[in-house]
Amino acid sequence: MRTFLFLIATVFFSFSALCQKSTTFKPGEIWPDNKGVHINAHGGGILFHNGKYFWFGEHKVEGKKGNQAWVGVHCYSSGNLTDWTDEGIAFSVSNDPESEITAGCVIERPKVIYNKKTGKFVMWFHLELKGQGYKAAKTGVAVADNPTGPYNFLKAVNPNAGVWPVNYNGELISKKFPENLKDWSDEWIQAVKDGLFVHRDFEKGQMARDMSLYIDDDGKAYHIHASEENLTLHIAELTDDYTGFTGKYIRVLPTGHNEAPALFKYNNKYFMITSGCTGWAPNAARLLVSGSVMGNWEYIENPCVGTDKELTFHAQSTYILPVEGKKNAFIFMADRWNPENAIDGRYIWLPVQFNEMGNPYLEWIDEWKLSIFDKK
Ligand code: DGJ
Repeated sequence: MRTFLFLIATVFFSFSALCQKSTTFKPGEIWPDNKGVHINAHGGGILFHNGKYFWFGEHKVEGKKGNQAWVGVHCYSSGNLTDWTDEGIAFSVSNDPESEITAGCVIERPKVIYNKKTGKFVMWFHLELKGQGYKAAKTGVAVADNPTGPYNFLKAVNPNAGVWPVNYNGELISKKFPENLKDWSDEWIQAVKDGLFVHRDFEKGQMARDMSLYIDDDGKAYHIHASEENLTLHIAELTDDYTGFTGKYIRVLPTGHNEAPALFKYNNKYFMITSGCTGWAPNAARLLVSGSVMGNWEYIENPCVGTDKELTFHAQSTYILPVEGKKNAFIFMADRWNPENAIDGRYIWLPVQFNEMGNPYLEWIDEWKLSIFDKK
């Protein structure tokens, strides 16, 4: 009897310890939700709406390798960014084997924005069709009346079919590219810079893999995605209701091999943090800057400093979150992937700091609080 009571007490106290409110961020550690379960929202992004944060991310399944979607997009809510309540699955995969979002497809990096004009919550995500690897390179969109869903699937597209990028040299529009160029030969690299893949995908629409969303101060929303076989980022304007593309888009750093884009604005400059393309394996982050979203993006440097800066602290960017009620306070959100057991992927959240040049940088901190932003 005594052993039994002891057991019950141990279970009770461990559970309440897990559920205890925490005010600190501990990058890379297990992050329990209100039920004591490690948060399951990988490659995610955050929406702030009516005083609450909503975290959306890829739901992974215990014991499954890789990135197939068996359940959908998970949502959590929080008032303070450290305690998260499980709001369940906001967007579900379909049981219909004919559906583009059938279970076993790939749904990555979901992001949600709120459209003030329509009053709808709009989710975009990278979609790969079941059994086709990463060939489809589509982006899907779903809408909901409430932040936590359910989100209804509208469509998946290869964006901007039949339109040239706005920052594309007009002379190249009629260019004929030589066939059978050897990948990574000087001629091939030049051809990709000149728009080899933009031409190839012109009729059916451009590729869209790793993606993010950004709403500018004027309310215009942009879809940022890895295109052209992951060699060139595209930034594309969304329609007023945020559920389609207007056809206005730019190419960013052709052949730069950037993915995992995360964009924010500080001091009248637009910054983007990206990664290189090494699959699940971490690599050095890149910091880009521009005077406007659709402007000329330039590479600055690796924003990480200190130990493991070359591996982005063993993580890959997913989103940069402006902290509500604090000035110039941004959180860099990244994923430490675990491809062998994807559900055990960890979250690396670090405060964005700024150097004397006004450029953002990231340094590892074992444990930190939001009050870090007050000490400037
Ligand atoms: C890197 C991407 O950034 C991730 O979203 C995911 O697609 C992995 N590659 C899969 O290898």
